[in-house]
This record gives sequence, C-alpha cells and structure tokens, in this order.
Amino acid sequence: MDNFFDNKIAERLGGINFGKSTVIYKFEIIKRAKAAAKKAHPEMDLIDMGVGEPDWPADELVVKALSEEAGKAENRWYADNGIPEFQEEAARYLEKVYGLKGINPSEQIVHGIGSKPVLAMLPTCFINPGDVLLTTVPGYPVTATYTKYLGGEVFNLPLLEENSFFPDFDIIPEPVLKKAKLLYLNYPNNPTGAVATVEFFEKVVSFAVKNDIIVIHDAPYSALTYDGYKPLSFLSVNGAMEVGIEVHSLSKAFNMTGWRIGFICGNSKAVKAYATVKDNTDSGQFRAIQKAGIEALKHTEITDRTIAKYSRRFDLLVNALNESGFDAKKPKGSFYCYVKAPVGAENGKIFKTATEFSEFLIHESLISTVPWDDAGKFIRFSVTFEADSPQKEIEVINEMKERLKKLKLKF
Ligand SMILES: Cc1ncc(COP(=O)(O)O)c(C=O)c1O
Repeated sequence: MDNFFDNKIAERLGGINFGKSTVIYKFEIIKRAKAAAKKAHPEMDLIDMGVGEPDWPADELVVKALSEEAGKAENRWYADNGIPEFQEEAARYLEKVYGLKGINPSEQIVHGIGSKPVLAMLPTCFINPGDVLLTTVPGYPVTATYTKYLGGEVFNLPLLEENSFFPDFDIIPEPVLKKAKLLYLNYPNNPTGAVATVEFFEKVVSFAVKNDIIVIHDAPYSALTYDGYKPLSFLSVNGAMEVGIEVHSLSKAFNMTGWRIGFICGNSKAVKAYATVKDNTDSGQFRAIQKAGIEALKHTEITDRTIAKYSRRFDLLVNALNESGFDAKKPKGSFYCYVKAPVGAENGKIFKTATEFSEFLIHESLISTVPWDDAGKFIRFSVTFEADSPQKEIEVINEMKERLKKLKLKF
C-alpha cells in the first residue's frame, strides 16, 4: 500500500480511487492555460474576464469599522449563532432593499460565514438518504454536492436560453417529483445573468406547495441590478415565506468576498434547523466582522456605486462582444454576461465544447473567460475585470475587442 490513508477515504470522495482520477476539471484547464499563455507571451497583458469576485476592495467605512472593532476585548468571544445587532440590521436591510416587512430578526435571520457554508449545511437540515434535490444547471454546485454526500440524489434542471434561463418543472419525472424535498434556485443567476420575475417566483411557490418541496433561493447577486430592474426577493412573493428560505451574502454587493459574511432568512422552523446544524459546525464569524457587516448593510450607497461601475462596464462589454460577432445582451442583474460560444475560427478551427473555445481564447489572445457546457456551449464574461478608472475600462475593453476581431470567429 502506498499510503496508510489509501483504503480509508470515504466512498463519497471516491473511496480507494480518491486522488487517482486523471480527469482534469475545467477550472484546472483554464488555470493551466493561463499559466502557459503568460509564459509564452510575457510581453502581453492577460485580460481576465473570468473572475467571479469584485475588483474593488471593501468600502473604507467598512474597513474602518473592522479596524476599530478588531481590538476590542468584548469582541473576542466565540460568536456562536451571531450577535443580535447583525440580525436586526439584516432585517432592516431586507425591508429597505427588498420591501420585506415583518421579519422577526431573532427567529428568522441567522448569519453565516459567507453563503457557501450555509448552502453546504442546508442539506444536512433536510436531506435523508434517497431524498431528491432539484437543482438548476449550470450553477453553483455546493448544495448538490452535500446532498450527494448525505446519500441524497440530485436531479438537474437545465437553464436553457429558449426558456429565458428558467427551469422547466414539467420535465421532472413523476417518481423523481415524489422523492423531491428541496429545490435550489439562484437569481440573478450565476452564470447566465438571468433575473427572476414575480410571475416566475409565484409559479415556484405553487410548484413547491403542490409538490411539498422546500425552496432554497441563493441570492448573493440580488442587490446588483441594472436599468430599472429592482432587487427582487423570493420571500416577497405571496406564500414564499411558508415554503422557502433565502440566502444572502455581503460578498458581491459590498465587495467583501474574503470577509466571509452572509445570512439566511425565512421560515423560522427552517432557520432554526440551520442554526442547529451551524451550532454543531462552526462557532460563528468574528464579532468585529459582523459589526463591520452592519456598517455595510446600513450603507447601501456602497452597492449603488458598484452598480454604476458594473452597468458602465456592461455597456462597453456588450457592444464589444456584439462587434466581434457574439450575440450579447446586457443582463438585468449579477456581474456576468453569458454568451454562446462560437463554433469555430479561422483556418477551419472547430470548437466542440465551450471549454475548448475558452482554452483557445487564452492561448491565442490571452483573454480568460469561464466556459459552461452543462446546457449548451456558453462562456461567461465578468465585468469585475481589473481597471482602476473609467478610462482604463475603455482601454481594456477596446484591447479585448481588437484581440477578438483578429480571431475571425464563426458563429
Ligand atoms: C451563486 C452563488 N452562490 C453562492 C456563492 C458564494 O458566495 P459567498 O460564500 O462568498 O457568500 C457564490 C460565489 O461565487 C455564487 O456565485
């Protein structure tokens, strides 16, 4: 035996085969392609349109709050399920931004160390072996991964352009529907950039009630909206509070990805189940970070500034992509522009997958994107690229456009 641990890894991680797979996942392909391209072309800047995080740091107000709170003795304790001031501010924020009234902060809101761990813990609250999670693809995979870890099953609902990137519940076979316990949704959506409508959320509530399914709405991009579309909470729709929970994050709306702070809101029984699992998993986010988070939630103008920047960049990006042959539309939410990958390029070059195209784009043009092959061949451009002024944004996008045009892409 090579290693004492070889026969001890749990089956959920692949058991004896853990670490032996030779399959290279797309993010690794992209990472390797970026490293190789930088080495081959040291004279050229890599234009990174693949980043899923804000380019700005947290606001000065928020940084100041952390620096003041960090050394205070009263903040040193385990925070467990959080400080009431954070829950109260989160409730005020939900009312201000989403019009949600009457939330009981102590029973209906609990913080999380970002939304990722919340999404990881929710299956432990609800999934018994054999239960089914319905989840949209492409998408953020954490809830599905944990459902499988727990012996649950996952049924994928493809997000197709012809359905405006909404799932089609009619494709779910009756036996799957009978076992379905959770539905995971995310709007504004990563990666498609699609936003929900009240009508769609109403349809989700009816579907959930009819089939006895809990809805988890993952909402980290919900406050980032453009061109008249207003932030929309799933919980604001009639009946949603009875069947659903929503997971919010300060990561994207307040430029705080590394800070790890978010919260869950919804039905008090469901929130209590999350609080129970959380209590047995972590000891809460540092109180000073929760207090800095309160400062952020109080200052929604931070999000407004970010929205203005992303909106300006989307206008540039969408024009440049359309001039290069893509069919790009400015999304109403998120920071992603999701476009069909070309079928080929000059000299008979054919792309069988979006991943192949994305790799080609890095090698040939030093432009990095994220490919998705789950429901059609698409690539995702993000407006969080590095540019420290509006002028620089124009320069980056113009340079990207020149490089794209040279490829003579075929659609
Ligand atoms: C759809 C979606 N959900 C959840 C997350 C996790 O966000 P965080 O854990 O930073 O709150 C991300 C991050 O990229 C995301 O795109």
